[in-house]
Amino acid sequence: MSTVKTAVLVSGGGTNLQALIDAKAADKLPHVEFVSVIASRPDAYALTRAANAGIPTCVAQRKGKTQEAFEAAILDELNQKQAQLIILAGFMSILSENFVKRYPRRILNVHPALLPAFGGKGYYGLHVHEAALARGVKVTGATVHYVNEIADGGEIILQKAVDVLPGDTPVILQRRVMEQAEWIILPQAAELTAQDILQR
Ligand code: GAR
Repeated sequence: MSTVKTAVLVSGGGTNLQALIDAKAADKLPHVEFVSVIASRPDAYALTRAANAGIPTCVAQRKGKTQEAFEAAILDELNQKQAQLIILAGFMSILSENFVKRYPRRILNVHPALLPAFGGKGYYGLHVHEAALARGVKVTGATVHYVNEIADGGEIILQKAVDVLPGDTPVILQRRVMEQAEWIILPQAAELTAQDILQR
């Protein structure tokens, strides 16, 4: 069976990466082959998860580098591994237009809200859930979308709604959105996109 060489870009704990690794182990990603996990920070726990799963890792540190040098390091790894699909799984650095346009409909991002709500500049990680609670929404969720040159302008692949409950804190809500949405739809979207790429 043909597979799509896939790189996962991470910055932190890597629970979404873990969901991808677990889905692969459960034979739910037959067309996805993980060729690299690239971290923007050397201390990202996601690197340990990747190593435990036998996936090659690479650190392209953001700190202390120009955007150009940072992206050149990522591109170098992507080219070496011949990556055909890139998954941003809790990747907290911005990629430039110049980078993104090299991979049309080949970069997936998971965002912890129902886009276009709570998306765009400043909306990342816990800030997204803080904003949702401040606004008083009763339903939030997660979105997996393509990344294109226009910020948050990429086509939506999958979304899943999650209830906001009385007494929620940003941390409690973040965990529920991960468990009930992100960890489910990210692997699903990865397989769907890999199948799509094989047919292009
Ligand atoms: C996830 O909730 C992900 O959706 C979010 O950061 C968290 C990373 O967790 N990403 C963004 O906010 C990107 N805009 P993880 O490292 O455990 O997967």
